[in-house]
Amino acid sequence: MKDIIVGQGLTKIFRRGSEEIYALRDVDFSVGEGDFLSIIGPSGSGKTALLNVLGCLDTPDGGSLRLNGIETRGMKESGLVKLRRENIGFVFQQFYLMPTLTARENIELPLLFSHKNKNNNRIDDVLKMVGLADRADHLPGQLSGGEMQRVAIGRALINDPRIVLADEPTGNLDSATSQMIFDLFLELNRRGLTLVVVTHNMDLAKLTSKTYTLRDGQMVG
Ligand SMILES: Nc1ncnc2c1ncn2[C@@H]1O[C@H](COP(=O)(O)OP(=O)(O)OP(=O)(O)O)[C@@H](O)[C@H]1O
Ligand SMILES: [Mg+2]
Repeated sequence: MKDIIVGQGLTKIFRRGSEEIYALRDVDFSVGEGDFLSIIGPSGSGKTALLNVLGCLDTPDGGSLRLNGIETRGMKESGLVKLRRENIGFVFQQFYLMPTLTARENIELPLLFSHKNKNNNRIDDVLKMVGLADRADHLPGQLSGGEMQRVAIGRALINDPRIVLADEPTGNLDSATSQMIFDLFLELNRRGLTLVVVTHNMDLAKLTSKTYTLRDGQMVG
């Protein structure tokens, strides 16, 4: 199977005054096409740091990261932005929706930045994919938490990314709604989407094809 992301020896150091915090220490992590991987680990173990490095939202202080066969080490921010836009969709715990835009408008927002033509069929398809065809004209404030996260997932999908990275996507949702979000991920994965999800919830992690565990910035299983 083809690898979409290959990370080797990834290290991320945060400096607070004279203190150095190793958020990631020599982590090897690869994602193959069609994978649905989960990352678990205690608070502060480096899960967000890893996801941010994998998605080129943050640059590692050591190691190498190849995305679609392209080495990102030493790449300028403009190159990383392009690589990110063309390949990666992000989903976060806090949804980050624009409160004054409808579900449909939130989903089409990334098209503005990728300079792709607005394609109403594509937006309709994505609305259907995330189960929001009948909520398209609602504002975020008129949606439930689960529906808001579906909007965020739709926004992550609109540019047809190679991979979606989700950081605690169900952290603000009750357990039934969380299960529904994972059911949606499973369905998207069956349709060929590659996914990496950070979660605290072991029951949800078990639904993925493989679970990795971080502890103190190191991959321990
Ligand atoms: N911007 C930052 N500046 C300094 N230290 C940071 C920064 N971001 C993260 N860290 C530190 O790096 C380590 C890893 O943080 P990270 O956010 O990746 O943990 P996490 O596993 O995602 O935790 P949680 O489950 O609470 O989200 C922690 O010790 C954290 O305090
Ligand atoms: Mg985190």
